[in-house]
Amino acid sequence: MKIIRNFVDNIHNETYKDSYDSPCLEAESYVIPGGRQEMSLDGAWNFSVDMYDNCLRAKWFLEEEKNPEGLTVPLDYGFDDWEEIQVPGVWNLARPEYFYYEGPAVYSRRFLFKDSPKGHVFLRFGAVSYEARIFLNGKFLGVHKGGSTPFCVQVTRDLKEENRLIVIADNTRRQDQVPSENTDWFLYGGIYRSVSLFCVPQTYIKDMKVYLIDGEKKEINVSVALGGSQHYEEGEVIFSIPELQVEETVPFGSDGRGQRTLEISGLSLWSPESPRLYDVFLHFRSGDQLLDEVKDRIGFRTVETRGREILLNGKPVFLRGVCLHEETEDHGKAVTKEDIRLAFHWAKKMNCNFLRLAHYPHTEWVSQLADEAGLLLWEEIPVYWWIDFANPRTLRDAKNQLTELMARDFNRASVILWSVGNENPDTDRRYGFMKELAEWAKEYDPSRLVSAACLVDTVNLRISDRLEKHLDVIGFNEYYGWYDPDYGKLAAVLEGSKPERPVVISEFGGDGYLSSEPENAGVRGSEAEQKEIYEKQVEMFGKTGYIQGTAPWILFDYRTPKRLGKYQKGYNIKGLVTADRKREKPAFSVMKKYYQEVGNREQRDKSSS
Ligand code: GCU
Repeated sequence: MKIIRNFVDNIHNETYKDSYDSPCLEAESYVIPGGRQEMSLDGAWNFSVDMYDNCLRAKWFLEEEKNPEGLTVPLDYGFDDWEEIQVPGVWNLARPEYFYYEGPAVYSRRFLFKDSPKGHVFLRFGAVSYEARIFLNGKFLGVHKGGSTPFCVQVTRDLKEENRLIVIADNTRRQDQVPSENTDWFLYGGIYRSVSLFCVPQTYIKDMKVYLIDGEKKEINVSVALGGSQHYEEGEVIFSIPELQVEETVPFGSDGRGQRTLEISGLSLWSPESPRLYDVFLHFRSGDQLLDEVKDRIGFRTVETRGREILLNGKPVFLRGVCLHEETEDHGKAVTKEDIRLAFHWAKKMNCNFLRLAHYPHTEWVSQLADEAGLLLWEEIPVYWWIDFANPRTLRDAKNQLTELMARDFNRASVILWSVGNENPDTDRRYGFMKELAEWAKEYDPSRLVSAACLVDTVNLRISDRLEKHLDVIGFNEYYGWYDPDYGKLAAVLEGSKPERPVVISEFGGDGYLSSEPENAGVRGSEAEQKEIYEKQVEMFGKTGYIQGTAPWILFDYRTPKRLGKYQKGYNIKGLVTADRKREKPAFSVMKKYYQEVGNREQRDKSSS
């Protein structure tokens, strides 16, 4: 790596960023948290926007106060003198002038590390939007791309007792990124999920994946991956569920990987009605010495398809859903557990058992809390609208985000669907790109279904997308009654389609602004019209036997720079509840009633079977 140390060179060097495009911190870097003790680095960090990327260009992160000739140089930065900002958080809400800021920004903090670890030490970032470059004590440790998934970086050799950590977060939209430049949600930036430091022994448990293979035989699969060495000869891995008196060894090879299938008597299955979780442990021992331990709270359930049905624990389930973005008025994308619980409250009030988490991975708190609350989840990577499908780097980015999401949430019973994209134009390149993602998801995770939110074939008025043969469940978005006022087309699509696999309507709806002014009641986008759209849509769903789920767009109004109409004012107002999450709109009750009826019918079918 060519080090350009002279400031004058830097202002003439437009290849300055080449030195910071590797090492890439990708899914392989991930170490399962596993309930380990973590040292939180959340809290107040020093911060500044850095529109001209000077921290990289002029290598501020080196904090060199003298040039090679030993002369003191003028400094254009002052990490410790900069303002403070909260981590986790989004800079957009920190100060009014940052609201629309898009570009690089520099976070820095000091921290003490007085331990003398015998093994390895990792930094873990919950998510940084969009690119994150990590510098510890003046050393560049790597770059992570993808704005919604966690990553780890090993810092064992670079830690001192007193440390300086610098993170350059850059939320600039770029055509070759995932998503690309054009979306319908707000572009938040920052270190918006938690940052922590954790230690592991010399040889440690890097990953643990557990899932139910067969609900009848109560057969589960446990897989382990060790880390910290090249070859693994010594030691043994023991899987246990104390509550069920389970304690079994899991064999592993010299590569540190292994798995075992076990039959667990007395296991109660997880379901939305009965979200049963078990404390599960994996111990890595050498003789009677415990070398490492990871734990998780896991629910055991199966999800599969049979013809046009989705089966949960072998029984048909209708996904009574609603779409949700990761955003609140007060916290932006840095949602809190309270924000998530309030969203669950509204969803359950609408008689939902399912949430479509659009259009990117939400915080892991959602799937953890959904495991406890008994909600089913659709999780998605932001392969959204137009993507640079011809670009291999873009495919690598998309695949890595998908892998990081699956690695993070593999043990979450609530997650039943991985979605590889949303409303992508059907071209050969898009087909090849998304086929590869769908096949990878199936290969990586045999315990879940794969879907995508596809577009209706508006020429032949059919649910038909050549990607569907690579999907377990066809999601499709339709806005009849809103973008296309002709409900007759929806009837034609639903009656004319002959899907061979389950279909979930992954979006429908329309704007709903508060039309307290009587003269606006009939104007397009009023709440009254929104309610009418829902009534007509739901009426047609009721006549269509093959629909296995619906997820109206969207639970809450939310910020988007795309929606600048008279009543939108920078918000997408298709919400069934207002952005402040305080008031339901009339259409909410339409869905509540529909889902009540669907739920009752499902109960009757179950009790009669
Ligand atoms: C699209 C898209 C959403 C968007 C919505 C809308 O289907 O998937 O992200 O916000 O429609 O038009 O409001």
